[in-house]
Amino acid sequence: METIALPGIHTPNQLYIENLYRRFPDPKTGLPQTVLENVDLRVNPGEFVSIIGPSGCGKSTLLRICLGADLGYEGNVIINGKPVQFPDSTRGLVPQKYGVYPHLTVLKNVLIGLELKYPIWYRMTHKKELRAQAMEYLNDVQLAEHADKYPYQLSGGQQQRVSIAQTLVTGPGMVFMDEPFGALDQSTRERVQVFMLQLWEKHKMTVFFVTHDIGEAVYLGTRLILLSQYYVDDRGDVDEKGNPLRRGAKIITDIPLTGTALPTKVKGEKSFIEIVRSIAEGPGFKPDHREHVRDFNLAHSNSFQTLTALEDKTGNGNGRLKKMEEQMIRGG
Ligand SMILES: Nc1ncnc2c1ncn2[C@@H]1O[C@H](COP(=O)(O)OP(=O)(O)OP(=O)(O)O)[C@@H](O)[C@H]1O
Ligand SMILES: [Mg+2]
Repeated sequence: METIALPGIHTPNQLYIENLYRRFPDPKTGLPQTVLENVDLRVNPGEFVSIIGPSGCGKSTLLRICLGADLGYEGNVIINGKPVQFPDSTRGLVPQKYGVYPHLTVLKNVLIGLELKYPIWYRMTHKKELRAQAMEYLNDVQLAEHADKYPYQLSGGQQQRVSIAQTLVTGPGMVFMDEPFGALDQSTRERVQVFMLQLWEKHKMTVFFVTHDIGEAVYLGTRLILLSQYYVDDRGDVDEKGNPLRRGAKIITDIPLTGTALPTKVKGEKSFIEIVRSIAEGPGFKPDHREHVRDFNLAHSNSFQTLTALEDKTGNGNGRLKKMEEQMIRGG
């Protein structure tokens, strides 16, 4: 599909993805396997985007591409108006675990974030300032009194807070979190969730948060994205067994959420439980589920779905999808 020019819509820290494909060679056949297929996404600064989807659908792949750690994609991935470049201090990653260096103290773990940002001459002449900055972030994550400890002397939740401080200390406009609280027990996890929202409200960065926990996704996010790899369409393509061709992952749900830090007790409320249930039981998670492009729930004001020429020709898109595409072409 030809590239659409989008004049003037990019604001600082905005992420804009259009017609994104990522293919990897199949380990058995060596043939290219499509993991992400024609993904479109626009995220404004300050959004907290929760990303969910079945295991193996491509969530981590999507994060790595946005971070600049995987440049083997096809399509457009634009950040601040420019194609995404290798990772730098404007974008930070908080991994599921092993985000901290075991041989460094808590303070040095945070300082190392700054070492990547500033050249050595600056670090030599501004030691005090950088230390104060690192301590400020440790204070934010309530670990100032543990500054001289080593990671093995901390709990899992505390280590994850060090990892978050290490990432945030450079002041990234975008933070990518890949199941960051997956290894924590439930009560620690809830505390870190509240604390994450407080940091987000303070620093106003854009957050991309991958999780397997739908409740966590709904609780934290201002927006929820569900990726699904299991969908078919009207193109009639079949695999070698004659089954409809399994396509790569697409965003099949993109909805706005409340967007304010709420006490964790909202998770017990009826409306909260209902939204979690509808996502868990809706399309996306069941391997045999077949979803059609025109049935996607792209209700967020920033959602859009471009159509390939073939999808368009087979009438695969409804008016709404096309309208979104036209809006994008006009830069609206
Ligand atoms: N470098 C690679 N080479 C080959 N295949 C890859 C590579 N990276 C990812 N894949 C494949 O891409 C698919 C998506 O992987 P990814 O790690 O993005 O999934 P995920 O949604 O994050 O899954 P999970 O929820 O289990 O973490 C998988 O089938 C995986 O095997
Ligand atoms: Mg993953």
